Amino acid sequence: MGAGDEGSGPVSRSSEFESLHEIIRQAHQILPKEKWDSLVGGAETETTLKRNRLAIDSIAFKPRVLRNVSVVDLSVEHFDRKLRLPLFFAPTGPLDLFDPGGGATVASGSQAFGIAHMLSSGCTPLEAVAEAAPSALRMAQLYVRGDDAFVHDYVARALACGCAAICLTVDSAVLARRDRDIANRYRIAGLVKWRGQAYQAGLDWRTVKLIKDTYDIPLVLKGIVTIEDARIAVDHGVDWIYVSNHGGRQLDHGRGTLDVLPEIIDAVAGQAKVMVDGGFCRGSDIIKALAIGADLVGLGRMQCYALAAGGETAIIRMLELIEDEMLRSMALLGVSAIGELDRSYLHPAVPVTIPSALSAFPLIDFSRDC
Ligand SMILES: Cc1cc2nc3c(=O)[nH]c(=O)nc-3n(C[C@H](O)[C@H](O)[C@H](O)COP(=O)(O)O)c2cc1C
Repeated sequence: MGAGDEGSGPVSRSSEFESLHEIIRQAHQILPKEKWDSLVGGAETETTLKRNRLAIDSIAFKPRVLRNVSVVDLSVEHFDRKLRLPLFFAPTGPLDLFDPGGGATVASGSQAFGIAHMLSSGCTPLEAVAEAAPSALRMAQLYVRGDDAFVHDYVARALACGCAAICLTVDSAVLARRDRDIANRYRIAGLVKWRGQAYQAGLDWRTVKLIKDTYDIPLVLKGIVTIEDARIAVDHGVDWIYVSNHGGRQLDHGRGTLDVLPEIIDAVAGQAKVMVDGGFCRGSDIIKALAIGADLVGLGRMQCYALAAGGETAIIRMLELIEDEMLRSMALLGVSAIGELDRSYLHPAVPVTIPSALSAFPLIDFSRDC
């Protein structure tokens, strides 16, 4: 980046959105109320959801000055591939609610831009997505909905589709109560797939061992939020710990993921890589997680907002805007490569806004912009 001039913009622009605010506003205007509510909402009182933002907002930056930041490099390498940003799209089941192409559109956008994506087993079939975006860096997330044969079949399909990793979501033994959906009498079609949920409830470390013992593919465990479970995962040879509370959509009254992240990274002590999601909306949010020590950061709802706002074009534009925000944050912090970030750039702080799912977008008045 030529990080010098005030007002200098990103190199290319895939659509007319000038800011992330405009993408969110467009999604809000397009989506019917029940779909919007279902997307932004969380479980029960939505305390976990708000704590994700609270944790992010409770960190201030400590910038360093007089360092040459005329070139800032945001790229990283994982799974033997170079990524333009240390980002991936988190698995989201009902992507076809926001764009007819669903997971294929997101995969195609992530391939075009150069980040990774993780496909939900409740989303577009793996084979269709692999065909739409053959060279995307893809991970396959799995909800277990059957016996061991079901698991074997899914992992074999993921391998055949060239997935770089398989991810077991482990924070969803049962489906949480989502009061916004209940209030709207809204039932997401994909949730019918919760048939077979008994298998997910019966899941334990045996399935982790089964996958590790049988397949030569990196294994990710999604939904780890305690030191204790992170240590057990490492003992099972898990390759990636995915710190997540499901974006506040499962257990209510959990901790914010950025609160949990430092202790898990310390406990894992380099024996596994760590990815995190939950409330990440802006470039600066992502820089905070990377400075704490995360290897990759996942975007859940942000991909859905962009998808609803303008399909693949808006997905790419959103990533350009996030990249632009990250470049500017890095330059203003005095850091020119992701590997230089560490906790010395962070300081505890009192949040200045009341956290909510969309408090990162203060310019939008959701009651007026409907
Ligand atoms: C609409 C929606 C559907 C989701 N579906 C899945 C899923 O199928 N599998 C899964 O592991 N997580 C799922 N999640 C959770 C996301 O992977 C991710 O953990 C969460 O959205 C991150 O928080 P964020 O939305 O604040 O970025 C879903 C989240 C949303 C918003």
